[in-house]
Amino acid sequence: MNRDPAPHHPLVQRLIDARQITDALFSIVKPEFLYERPIRERHRIVFYVGHLEAFDRNLFDQRLFDLPAFDPHLDQLFAFGIDPVDGGFPTDQPSDWPSLDAVRAYGLRAREQIDRELDALSDSARVGRKGAHADASEQLLNVAIEHRLMHAETLAYMLHQLPLAQKVAGLRAPAPTRPEPRQALSSMVSVPVGATVLGMSRESGQFGWDNEFGEKRVDVPAFEIDRHMVTNGAFLQFIEAGGYREPKWWTDKDWAWKEAEHIEHPACWSEQTGSDQNSAWMLRTMFDDVPLPLDWPAYVSHAEASAYARWAGKALPSEAQWQRAAHGAPHAASGNFDFRSWDPQPVDAYPDNISAFGVEGQFGNGWEWTSTVFDALPGFEAFPFYPGYSANFFDGQHYVIKGGSARTAQCMLRPAFRNWFQPHYQYVYAGFRCVKVTNQP
Ligand code: AVJ
Ligand code: FE
Repeated sequence: MNRDPAPHHPLVQRLIDARQITDALFSIVKPEFLYERPIRERHRIVFYVGHLEAFDRNLFDQRLFDLPAFDPHLDQLFAFGIDPVDGGFPTDQPSDWPSLDAVRAYGLRAREQIDRELDALSDSARVGRKGAHADASEQLLNVAIEHRLMHAETLAYMLHQLPLAQKVAGLRAPAPTRPEPRQALSSMVSVPVGATVLGMSRESGQFGWDNEFGEKRVDVPAFEIDRHMVTNGAFLQFIEAGGYREPKWWTDKDWAWKEAEHIEHPACWSEQTGSDQNSAWMLRTMFDDVPLPLDWPAYVSHAEASAYARWAGKALPSEAQWQRAAHGAPHAASGNFDFRSWDPQPVDAYPDNISAFGVEGQFGNGWEWTSTVFDALPGFEAFPFYPGYSANFFDGQHYVIKGGSARTAQCMLRPAFRNWFQPHYQYVYAGFRCVKVTNQP
């Protein structure tokens, strides 16, 4: 007898949808290049093929379901990614990894195991019913969903660095137009003195990661902040003014990094010299090289953003200033996020994405660097099932980024969500805007 399967529980459906997004990402890579390492600080691509499935299996086993181990070695091999600090780059070779067939078979089998249990769970509607067990199951499902969606973004910026010839063609977007720089893009708006709250209360009933809980009220003095993110056009002026050759704009550490790595421009920029000796700046988009779009946000490292800010006589906003500036923004209304495109839009493309103070585009179209070192909010408690998720990065070597990019899922645009990266990491879809302390009359 045929029986219609029960509709999936909404969280189960979201996990299934998230899998489609990550599956599609791996199919961007020509299969013979899945053992490449596009970013030297990160694992080879094949690690992530295994990681996304191992993570869910390891997380759910014994907590949500009983999932008998069928390959403990791969459970462990694919358990966690890496973020080496201070040049300790991985040195593994492609031959150190299992074959693609083995990794894919592992992933399929893990999914079959998990899906059998998820179907039973949707049937019994165990999740979503009131009670402590339901809350715990919902939390684990949210962790799996958002973990996968975060990798959907980190994989996108990783594949961004893969040579175009190693990607499947056909997803090219139309070339952006190249308007004249608009003066209005460099204006600042005033934010009056006032309080802001970082994080959210445990009683909110909303899902959040460990680092989002605990509320911290901060009194923020008046300041001015750029109405829009700093554009490629504005950043180009810093380069043309010799910004990368002038130590006084850089901290000692940032300068040492820039010199050691011979960095002369943002990661996706290149300078093409034509036969007439005129040079033109190009930007590597996800699937193309285009003349540098001057009104897109400049995606740079924290070090480059800080140097620009100092040159401009400004500073990066603290996390509290950024949050205060965003007050009243309809953070998930209109904007370039939730996988809407592969690349940015002009910084003023979404005038509805505006805060009560008139600050535009804080949510989507590029994360924004802050001057705040990533740390615990008061009352921080690590998730017992993932103790290192945030706590491993409370090391003074990571800075908070806020907002979201075109490749950030809608659910992570919530105001409390906090993301973080090392200051010398150029590959994130992150730009910035600057602040100035208001002179009191
Ligand atoms: C929160 C985006 C910094 O990519 O290192 C994925 C997310 N942690 N798997 C990262 C994460 C473990 C994390 N970020
Ligand atoms: Fe991960």
